[in-house]
Amino acid sequence: MDRETELSLIREIIGLAEQKSTHLDMSVTHSPISRYASPERFEREMAMIFRRKPVVAAHSSELQGENAFVARNFMGLPLLLTRDAEGKAHAFLNVCRHRGAKLERDTAGCKRVFTCPYHAWSWTNQGQLRAVPQEAQGFPDLPRAERGLRRLPVAEAYGFIWIIANPEAAEMPDIDAWLSGLASDFDWMGLADHRIAVVETFEIKANWKVLVEGGLEAYHFRVAHKNTIAPHFPDNLMSYRQFGHHMRGVLPRNAMADLHSVPESDWQIRRDANLLYTLLPNIQMLVQQDHFMWFHFEPVSVDTTRFRMATTVPNSAPQNDEMEAHWRRNQKITVTALMEDFELGEEIQAGFASRGNPSHLFGRFEGALNRFNLAVEEMIAG
Ligand code: FES
Ligand SMILES: [Fe+2]
Repeated sequence: MDRETELSLIREIIGLAEQKSTHLDMSVTHSPISRYASPERFEREMAMIFRRKPVVAAHSSELQGENAFVARNFMGLPLLLTRDAEGKAHAFLNVCRHRGAKLERDTAGCKRVFTCPYHAWSWTNQGQLRAVPQEAQGFPDLPRAERGLRRLPVAEAYGFIWIIANPEAAEMPDIDAWLSGLASDFDWMGLADHRIAVVETFEIKANWKVLVEGGLEAYHFRVAHKNTIAPHFPDNLMSYRQFGHHMRGVLPRNAMADLHSVPESDWQIRRDANLLYTLLPNIQMLVQQDHFMWFHFEPVSVDTTRFRMATTVPNSAPQNDEMEAHWRRNQKITVTALMEDFELGEEIQAGFASRGNPSHLFGRFEGALNRFNLAVEEMIAG
C-alpha cells in the first residue's frame, strides 16, 4: 500500500465518523440460505473454485530452508510440499506411484529423498523417481519419467505457497494478476519476512461463508463482542473496497476518528485501524499493529470448516520468552473474539435445518457481505 492510499483510507473513515455514518451500499439485499446449506451448491463451490483457483496451502516459513518439506491433508488431498536445494517450492500428492502407499508419514522435516514405507521406491524432492528396488527383474522397461510424483501447480509469492488443489489442473495463473490490484498491499505487508509464532486449528460446524461473513461488517461488534473487543472500536464504522473477487476492509479503532486534529504526516493506518483482507477463496489477513493474524479456511463439507489461525510475526522482532508470551496473549485475544463469532456461526448453521428462514437480509452497512457472495457466485459461474 502506498502512502497516498493509506491517507485516503484514513480520510474516508474520518469523513464517515464526522457524518455519523458508515459506508452504505445502495440497497438492502437478500441472501438465500441455500448458499450455505445446500450440499449441491457446496459441490459446485469445490469444483469451480476450491479445486480450480489458486488457494493458499502454507506460509513460506513453514518450508524453511533447503530440502524442507511439509506433509498435510488439505482440501481432501494428501499434500507433500517440498523446497529443493535451489530453494524452489514444489507441490505433490503424498501418494506412492507404485501402489499408492502414503509416501511421507512425518508432517514436516528436511529430506532430499522420500522413500516409500511399503517397497522402498524413492523420489527426489523435485519429484523424480530415484530408485526402484529389484527394478531390472520386476519392472523391466519401467517408463521412469512417467512415474514422477503427481505434481500440483504451485507458486510462491508474498510469503505464501499457493497451489491449485487438483492434479488435473494445468497451469498456475500469475499471482499478481490473481491479486487484482492487491499486490502492492501484499508487498507492503512483507509477509515473506515473517514467521508463525502461534498456530491453532479448529473444526467449526458452519459453512465457510458464514465464517468469512463474520469479518465483513462491524454492525455486530457492540452486541456480539461487548465484553471483548467492542470497547476499542467505534460502533458500526467500517469501509471496504473490492479488488476483483477480493476485498480490503478498514475497521478503525476509536482513536482514528480523532485524527482530524493530528497532522497527516503523523497518520498511521496500522496504529489506528485493523485492516482485513479477504482473499478468495480461502484466506483472510487481519493486519494488526505489530503482527498479522492469518485466517485459513478449509471447507470440509457444506456445514463444517477447518479453520487454522496463525499469529504471523516479523522476523525482525526480538525472539525471547517475553515476546513469545506477548504473541501467545495476542493469539488468545483474537481466538476469544473469533469464537464469539464462530459460536454464532454454528448456531446460524444449525438454524438452516428449520427451513423457516428462506433468506438472510444484508443491511446497507452490510454491503460487503453481499459483494462477497456475488464474487463467490461469479467464480462458480466461471
Ligand atoms: S507402494 Fe510404495 S513402494 Fe510399493
Ligand atoms: Fe466478529
